[in-house]
Amino acid sequence: MRCTYCVPKEGFNSLPHEDILSYEEILRVVTLASEVGVNKFRITGGEPLVRRGVIDLTSKINAIDGVETTFTTNGLLLEDMAEELKSAGVRRLNISLDSLNPKRFADITRIDKLDKVLRGIEKAHSLGFTPLKLNIVIMKGVNDDEIEEFVNLTKNRNYHVRFIEFMPMKANGWDRSKFIAADEVETMVEKLFNILPDSSDPKGSPSRNYTIDGHLGKIGFISPVSRHFCDSCNRIRLTSDGHIRSCLLRKGEIDMRPALRGGAGDDEVRELIREAVLLKPSGHEMDNVNLDSHDTHRSMTQIGG
Ligand code: 5AD
Repeated sequence: MRCTYCVPKEGFNSLPHEDILSYEEILRVVTLASEVGVNKFRITGGEPLVRRGVIDLTSKINAIDGVETTFTTNGLLLEDMAEELKSAGVRRLNISLDSLNPKRFADITRIDKLDKVLRGIEKAHSLGFTPLKLNIVIMKGVNDDEIEEFVNLTKNRNYHVRFIEFMPMKANGWDRSKFIAADEVETMVEKLFNILPDSSDPKGSPSRNYTIDGHLGKIGFISPVSRHFCDSCNRIRLTSDGHIRSCLLRKGEIDMRPALRGGAGDDEVRELIREAVLLKPSGHEMDNVNLDSHDTHRSMTQIGG
């Protein structure tokens, strides 16, 4: 997929093989990160399920004591791979689903395969993945007329539907006219459904969650733009080209490759991971004034969500 809000219009250049971390290198960083207190690893992309060997990597990560993994996927390969993912020890999944209308889905993702994604979601549900989160990037004039339908997905299924504010990332066609604040979406939902704050929200969750009268699932609102949650953000990201990025929306990164490939000992690598955590800014500084000019230096597809 080449979702418009993620992949720049002109596409992307592939990275030379040697720029990409090998699975051995990823596993080393993950193992050492687990030793300094990271216990949840989300495997993202691009699209993580297209990388050959990803299931094997996942099993190895899950074999580390006290660690759990989760995936963020576009769902296209889920129908075929959900079982393997389950066997590899994955319990939780996030799946992008930006429209329930096939034509529109094709416009947003640049691929006409809504059916296949829906079958993938169904398969994951039948295998008992929980929570099963569905991510919807809400864009004005694009999919904001589907909010009710999205909420209705939670009626008979224990899905967690999450409305995400459209963030300006490098070259993703963002402009204010397409932006809707999470509060506005929440107001629309409140008019149609009886929603109640979900008291089981985990600490550090970026999403404000609600249960809905008579529904099995729940909904959530993620507001990185209008109401940031930097205070409680406990995430760091390792990019495919080996940089630990301290904040999704700011450029601070530590390149791990010189250490990993230059014979650094475990202590040194652990220290770099700690440093990346300490580099976390107090806020992403993408405020209402500089929204239009904010520069994330990487597109979402190069970070992986
Ligand atoms: N704004 C908001 N959410 C985004 N995602 C990707 N790009 C953006 C953006 N510009 C979300 C998608 C995907 C997850 C990895 O990040 O919902 O599921």
